[in-house]
Amino acid sequence: MGSGTQALSAAVRLAISRSSLKGAEPEVILPAYGCPDLVAAVVAQDAKPVLVDLLPDCPFVDTEKLSLAFSGATVAVIGVGFLGMPEQLSKLADVCRQRGVWLIEDSAQCFPPDCAREPIADCVVLSFGRGKPVNLMGGGALLVRETHNPASTDVLRDLPEEQLNVDWKWKARRRLLNFLLGRFCYGLLLRIPFLGLGTTLYKPLTSLHRMRLPSGLLEAGISEARVRPAMACKYAQKLEFLRQRGWSLFIDSKAPGANGEGQIILRYGLLAPNRKTRDRVIEALNRNGIGANAFYGQALPDIEGVSGLLHGSARNFPNAASFAERLVTLPSHEDVTDQDVGVIVTTFIEISGYHGY
Ligand SMILES: Cc1ncc(COP(=O)(O)O)c(C=O)c1O
Repeated sequence: MGSGTQALSAAVRLAISRSSLKGAEPEVILPAYGCPDLVAAVVAQDAKPVLVDLLPDCPFVDTEKLSLAFSGATVAVIGVGFLGMPEQLSKLADVCRQRGVWLIEDSAQCFPPDCAREPIADCVVLSFGRGKPVNLMGGGALLVRETHNPASTDVLRDLPEEQLNVDWKWKARRRLLNFLLGRFCYGLLLRIPFLGLGTTLYKPLTSLHRMRLPSGLLEAGISEARVRPAMACKYAQKLEFLRQRGWSLFIDSKAPGANGEGQIILRYGLLAPNRKTRDRVIEALNRNGIGANAFYGQALPDIEGVSGLLHGSARNFPNAASFAERLVTLPSHEDVTDQDVGVIVTTFIEISGYHGY
């Protein structure tokens, strides 16, 4: 597909096509903290996004609250993997199966998807955009459970198809983008406010097409991703001490994937004890040349352009709002050196020590 958002929107289209709704507006359930592209993918299919709060201090949806979010018009639940951590799909699937609703695994931020381990969801969405685990500078994929064929093929058959040409222009663009997004340029570009880099904005989805890739491109992208250093393990070991200071680390050094097997992480995430500490850490890390950030910065209802498309404000989703205001993410690309990790650890010690934890 043309992008991960398009793949997700196609998944929503499939879920609607198999439901027996007559005239009612279809509803799709998603987490209250997440990428605004989730909302764009749903709205593009004339469906209503319905938000559910997270569990406290973690990126997973609260399944008790999920059960309450269903209505007679619900056609799908999107289980979203976050920074290399897949959602708890088997728990979500239990709730979905009872109601005959589709479960979509959004694995834009996780590779390989959890369904490669255990095929729980009805379909899986991948993204190959910049900054994603498998980076082809754009594109995405929708993988659909074989048992849903041929009905799903029929629904998607008429989508227009484009050919991606990996010519000199594509290669030059890739080089340029990698250069601009490298630590030196990106740090400078971030300081130019009108570029809006680092801010999360809502972009409506206006096209849906399939993409034909040159043979071998995707395999090359996957191979490139597989040889990246296992930063999750390093961060988990070096930052373990923060747990005693009120921080939460999502991936610990014993977690599957943290040892470099399996999951490729795009950034390493951890939660500060409060917003003030989070802001101070990000500011200090950036001053020391480390590209730390707050990721989306807000729960979905507070993201510019999204609120008019949703019911409820961030106050209705206290765990998602608290998550958004305490999250710190650290870079985990191949340019992060041991010296950088040393600077990160020292900065965390200084800041968390300052607050007397
Ligand atoms: C969880 C999630 N889903 C979907 C998308 C959309 O993917 P794409 O940028 O390829 O459209 C993103 C993008 O960041 C994402 O993080």
